[in-house]
Amino acid sequence: MKLDDPDLFRQAALIGGQWISRPDMEVTDPATGKTLGHMPDCSAAETTEAIAAAEAAMKDWRARTHAERADLLMRWYQLMLDHAEDLARILTAEQGKPLQEARGEILYGASFVRWFAEEARRINGAIIPSPVPGKKIFAMKEPVGVCAIITPWNFPNAMITRKVAPGLAAGCTMVIKPSDFTPYSALALGVLAERAGIPKGVINILTGRPEAIGATLTGSAVVRKLSFTGSTRVGAMLAEQCAPTLKKLSLELGGNAPFIVFDDADLEAAVEGAMASKFRNGGQTCVCANRLLVQSGIHDAFVAALTARVDALRVGPGTEDGVEIGPMINNAAIDKITTHVTDALAKGAMRTTRSRDLPAGYADPMVLSGADTGMRLADEETFGPVAPIFRFETEEEALRIANGTPFGLAAYFYTTDMARAFRVGEALEFGLVGLNTGAISHEVSPFGGVKASGLGREGAREGIEEYLETKAFHFGGL
Ligand code: SIN
Repeated sequence: MKLDDPDLFRQAALIGGQWISRPDMEVTDPATGKTLGHMPDCSAAETTEAIAAAEAAMKDWRARTHAERADLLMRWYQLMLDHAEDLARILTAEQGKPLQEARGEILYGASFVRWFAEEARRINGAIIPSPVPGKKIFAMKEPVGVCAIITPWNFPNAMITRKVAPGLAAGCTMVIKPSDFTPYSALALGVLAERAGIPKGVINILTGRPEAIGATLTGSAVVRKLSFTGSTRVGAMLAEQCAPTLKKLSLELGGNAPFIVFDDADLEAAVEGAMASKFRNGGQTCVCANRLLVQSGIHDAFVAALTARVDALRVGPGTEDGVEIGPMINNAAIDKITTHVTDALAKGAMRTTRSRDLPAGYADPMVLSGADTGMRLADEETFGPVAPIFRFETEEEALRIANGTPFGLAAYFYTTDMARAFRVGEALEFGLVGLNTGAISHEVSPFGGVKASGLGREGAREGIEEYLETKAFHFGGL
């Protein structure tokens, strides 16, 4: 990996401002399977040290003015932009996504830092008229405290900034545990935070296997909040571990997004939206269209147009020019995709796209027509570049299938009928709904799910509330 600033590639954990370097574990490049670097496997004792460092740093950090914290966040943001190309290279090397997409993620990640730097200055409370004469009541906003941040491998940069920036703006301090598949994007952010002047101990980053670190973070009474992005299974387990110490929780968990195309949809726009939603990051996102529901009148034209677009996708190493689908993160991901496709084909689905001869580590992007609700891919996230098409006849049927899942993260639909737009938008049981768009992720908009897709919202004004407590301060004797 060639970087303009090689110091950004840090193979060390960050605890209380000290970089701890030990080659305990290997990190591999998913495009080649070769070793990319090493990292320490942080112990429970080191996790406790990081929590103590965050607790010690909290006193000064929360006492700073909002403007001071905002200025430091803006400096961090500017450094991310200045080093965007290196950050994108690191991201592609460890995660595999095409460099063009990695550049997009860096800007997306940086946008949260800018947004919450701006929001830092708008953390207002309220003055409540008292029901009792001679009294005043203030609702004051205060930082939650030390926060544990556990992030996934699919967005190694943006999922950190989306959690850390609002926390820092609110006056909290952080112990971050990035995925052991993709630690280097997090560590590069740590280097830039240090250069921005964010004080020692405000951001701590623990690398290594998740079990000991996770259990120590969730078990600690000092840690007052956990924010996690990942599977529903792990989210529920972490919530259980947090229960004895009653932490505030933000959980951004699994999805099973329906993507509905009604007969009256603009075909070209619907295909464009399906490509954007389904194939972003090779289908490895929680908001990816997982089930494409297409009404019978537009079905054949949609399948033909989507097939042509998928056939034209270029698959290869993310560093190669023009590549649109990189390698999958690991063999387990490939196995899950293969299992879903094999099950669907055995139950009557038909592959409409060409087949490519790809090296190990890559999944062949495909369209499957004739999908139905008895298939595994109807109930589980495939997390890969597979677009199963379910044919439907009526709006009621589409809504029944779309809502027939325990998950409730994202849903999309295409229609030109305004009455239907409102009806369907309101009937979809999801936290994020895209009408005539496949792109629903922006720093200004609340991101999060309902039902088994989690708790809380990230980004937007709501994102900072997750890191604040409200204190009711009663003044008597006035
Ligand atoms: C995710 O897949 O968890 C995040 C996707 C996004 O922010 O758009």
